[in-house]
Amino acid sequence: MRPFHGRRILLGVTGGIASYKTAWLARLLSQAGAEVDTVMTKSAREFIGAVTFEALTGRPVHTELVAEGSALDHIRLAQAAELVVVAPATADFLARAAGGRSDDLLAACLLATKAPVLLVPAMNDMMWAHQQTIANVAHLRSIGYTVLDPDTGPLASPQEGAGAGRMPEPDTIFAQVGRMLEPKGALNGKRVVVTAGPTRESLDPVRFLSNYSSGKMGVAIAAAAWRRGAEVTLIAGPLSITPPLGMRALDVESTSDMANAVRSELSTADVLVMAAAPADFKPATVAVAKIKKTTRPEALAIEETPDILKSTRDARRPGSVIVGFALETDDVMAHAAEKLRAKELDLIVVNDAREPGAGFGGDTNRVTIMAPNAEPVALPLMSKAEVADAILDRVEALLGGR
Ligand SMILES: Cc1cc2nc3c(=O)[nH]c(=O)nc-3n(C[C@H](O)[C@H](O)[C@H](O)COP(=O)(O)O)c2cc1C
Repeated sequence: MRPFHGRRILLGVTGGIASYKTAWLARLLSQAGAEVDTVMTKSAREFIGAVTFEALTGRPVHTELVAEGSALDHIRLAQAAELVVVAPATADFLARAAGGRSDDLLAACLLATKAPVLLVPAMNDMMWAHQQTIANVAHLRSIGYTVLDPDTGPLASPQEGAGAGRMPEPDTIFAQVGRMLEPKGALNGKRVVVTAGPTRESLDPVRFLSNYSSGKMGVAIAAAAWRRGAEVTLIAGPLSITPPLGMRALDVESTSDMANAVRSELSTADVLVMAAAPADFKPATVAVAKIKKTTRPEALAIEETPDILKSTRDARRPGSVIVGFALETDDVMAHAAEKLRAKELDLIVVNDAREPGAGFGGDTNRVTIMAPNAEPVALPLMSKAEVADAILDRVEALLGGR
């Protein structure tokens, strides 16, 4: 799949050490199908060769504002772009952009474009923390530019501090590009809360009851909602995969932790998607010390954990869209229909844990989506990313109608 097929991106590169990472970004964008026009400042060419970007993007690299045969390059490039990304953006470039300067090709392109602008600063931590840079970034944000916060961590030179200043990784920038290129629908700007993964219920300090949930389905939904412009909070039990970039993540352990987190987020949420598989049972008592083989109990007494959807029903914001999941192994559709009704859901996504390619762990799922007073819609076997989009299309339709 080439998600950015034919999309025109102007990639600006300025003179920072992190420009070596921008080569990887250029490759990611080109591989995703984008047509990438690289514009480099004079300083950037001291750090990395234009030929690298030419080879990675398969397109000529632009460097001069005033050059024979390319007198109106800045206007042509700026107007063709659907998105302008400057990575790294030096402190000096931020100052030039904030001042509305146009004395080099890249700065001129910023003034001549109508496309959204993404600036990815990278610099020494003292430079990033300086009042001048803070004021420049505040101004650039106030005129509608998206300015990513730099990461914290080791900077290029061992003498530099470890405060914020590192350029975010190419994957993070790539994800942000995806969010900015995505056509915007009803989820844009909405608050979406997604639960994902299993929960764990302690038996003693080293053992727990849990299930095989990997969190992949919930994470796919959170990532897709974020790409559609939502402000996403992911409430996750212990995941088997790295949580997606760009969103707020709240880590929880037990089902009651998850219920508490959902309750505190729900009053401001426009959408709740409960894709987690919270443990339904917990040991009736939790041993304070590790249970020894010699003191093994004959049987394990278990009790129910809180039902998150039921216990948080009164915390829902009026008009919000609530989506539940039902993972069943028998009488699948009847159980799901009962859950849809009893928990007052807008949608329930049903899967059969015993069906090949569906349910826990894998990268695919085969689901049926049920809504009150509507025929269930059985979807074919799809990737979890495609299932996430199918669910969110329906969520957007519901939001649009409220
Ligand atoms: C070795 C070296 C590394 C540099 N790294 C950075 C950097 O990471 N971020 C930054 O803002 N400036 C950095 N600078 C300073 C910029 O290169 C300088 O401000 C330059 O004028 C920026 O030009 P440009 O914004 O037109 O590309 C560095 C300079 C040198 C010599």
